[in-house]
Amino acid sequence: MGAKKALKLGVALTDPEDWTARAFVKSIEKRGAQPVPINLSTLSASISSADFSVFNADFKGLKLDALLVRDVGISFSLEPISFKYDLLRQFEHSIPVMNSPTAIQNAANKFFSFYLFKRAHLPIPRTVITSESDVALKAIKEFDCVLAKPIFGSQGKGIIKLELSQPDLEQKLRELLNERGVLYLQEFVPNPGRDIRVFVVGEEALGAIFRVALSDSIVSNLSQGGTPVKCELTGELEELAIRVTKAIGADFAGVDLLEGEEGLVVLEVNGTPSGKGINQACGIDVTERIVDLLLERVGAGGI
Ligand SMILES: Nc1ncnc2c1ncn2[C@@H]1O[C@H](COP(=O)(O)OP(=O)(O)O)[C@@H](O)[C@H]1O
Ligand SMILES: [Mg+2]
Repeated sequence: MGAKKALKLGVALTDPEDWTARAFVKSIEKRGAQPVPINLSTLSASISSADFSVFNADFKGLKLDALLVRDVGISFSLEPISFKYDLLRQFEHSIPVMNSPTAIQNAANKFFSFYLFKRAHLPIPRTVITSESDVALKAIKEFDCVLAKPIFGSQGKGIIKLELSQPDLEQKLRELLNERGVLYLQEFVPNPGRDIRVFVVGEEALGAIFRVALSDSIVSNLSQGGTPVKCELTGELEELAIRVTKAIGADFAGVDLLEGEEGLVVLEVNGTPSGKGINQACGIDVTERIVDLLLERVGAGGI
């Protein structure tokens, strides 16, 4: 190493106390690089025909060798969210950004990720996306029981079970359509009350956990009371999770799978996954591997 100047690795984050954010910072320091925590919402840009710069609230420019994205943060309207992704896109022109904004967007979008999964011949539950109540009703008649999920949802929030047998179904559908504008309806896959989260970094699956749902819950997310339990990483899990990660173009990902009656199905992929559950259940710190992969990229001359 010698007197070589430490590489500056930005970490896009919103909560500095978040387990994964802290682990990223620690892993970067452990590798002798300098972590630079950044909240994308606090960045500004200045553009003229001669110059382009991105700077902090204190008007300091950002000089980074690479950027890790822990999370992009929530915005409630189109312009702030799109500005944050566009900041990531322009960073990508000069430094490695991991995950890429395209991969993060692909993963965050439950419709488009499913389209990509289908193209990659991955096993997925039948899903209908519509703004038409007749189409929604037809899907529920066909699937009998569906989960209505927000297209950009996460942490198991806003997931509602709708069943053909429920007396207020049409009323409920109308309310949901009014509220969401478009419905994402997925056949309910009977399962053992848990899902499987596989963590992939690069070309490798590092570990897996079951997330066991509370007995009265249809979602097994840890943020909804699910419990992480170590799951043996079989060849089938590894292969499937790596294919899912590739399908959305991510360098690292948390892949959610369900053990259906006819085998594993892919539920979703997270392009800004938490490393906490797998650390608790398996003792693996995925952030170290992610930082190593990013450093390899920087070493390889960037992008
Ligand atoms: N099609 C399905 N059938 C049965 N359970 C499901 C299905 N889709 C999701 N779930 C349950 O709901 C949880 C959250 O769903 P997911 O699609 O991963 O959304 P989120 O982005 O909110 O985590 C899953 O971890 C699983 O426990
Ligand atoms: Mg999920």
